[in-house]
Amino acid sequence: MRKKIVAGNWKMNMTPSQAVALCETLKPLVAGSEADVVFCVPAIDIVPVVEAVKGTNIEVGGENLYFEDKGAYTGEISADMLLDAGCKYVIIGHSERRDYFKETDEIVNKKVKKAIEKGLTPIMCCGESLEQREQGITLDWIRMQIKIGLQGVDAADVAKMVIAYEPIWAIGTGVTATTEQAQEVCGAIRQCIAEIYCQDTADAVRIQYGGSVNAGNAAELFSQPDIDGGLVGGASLKADFGVIANA
Ligand code: 13P
Repeated sequence: MRKKIVAGNWKMNMTPSQAVALCETLKPLVAGSEADVVFCVPAIDIVPVVEAVKGTNIEVGGENLYFEDKGAYTGEISADMLLDAGCKYVIIGHSERRDYFKETDEIVNKKVKKAIEKGLTPIMCCGESLEQREQGITLDWIRMQIKIGLQGVDAADVAKMVIAYEPIWAIGTGVTATTEQAQEVCGAIRQCIAEIYCQDTADAVRIQYGGSVNAGNAAELFSQPDIDGGLVGGASLKADFGVIANA
């Protein structure tokens, strides 16, 4: 039985002091959650957020990392930095990074491997554009992202990681994928993992849905057989996240 995982992706929101205040608001609201609860926060918020959630059921994650260990990469954050600051998770390959910062599947693959090597749990994102959905190539596209993203990753490590299916057209738009659409793709991702690895690995990997998850739709989405929780943007910045974490 897979444990659900509900993660907030704060994106580029919350200054350090705002971040601490948000933690104080959310801590009691997520305290009763039966899921793993994760706050993925801007790099500069990690240290104060780790401090603010100490002793609670909340884990902290980064929103990105760089695949080199250290050195002359101005502005980048290493896996060791995330770990030493107290992160357990890291989002990799979010569609905003793929789009605005030109991250390819090959870069995503390098980052996933670095996160695993260092002991961080990657939340690897995939998702199709509206155009791709309308062209009928959603499942082909997602399978390609999964196959390249996981190249060279061992089954045992895949089993412990998290994959987030986030249709780009559903992110920040208020247009959520229907429960059937979300389940179809999450099921196809699990099938793809079974083909590359084995059924046990597919049964173990946790697959989230993300894209306009809110307090009203979370319970139905998370009740689907292949949806093991959510990656939540806008609604993770307010009290609604408490409802979602308990859905
Ligand atoms: P929204 O929940 O704001 O649509 O964002 C989803 C997302 O991108 C989470 O990573």
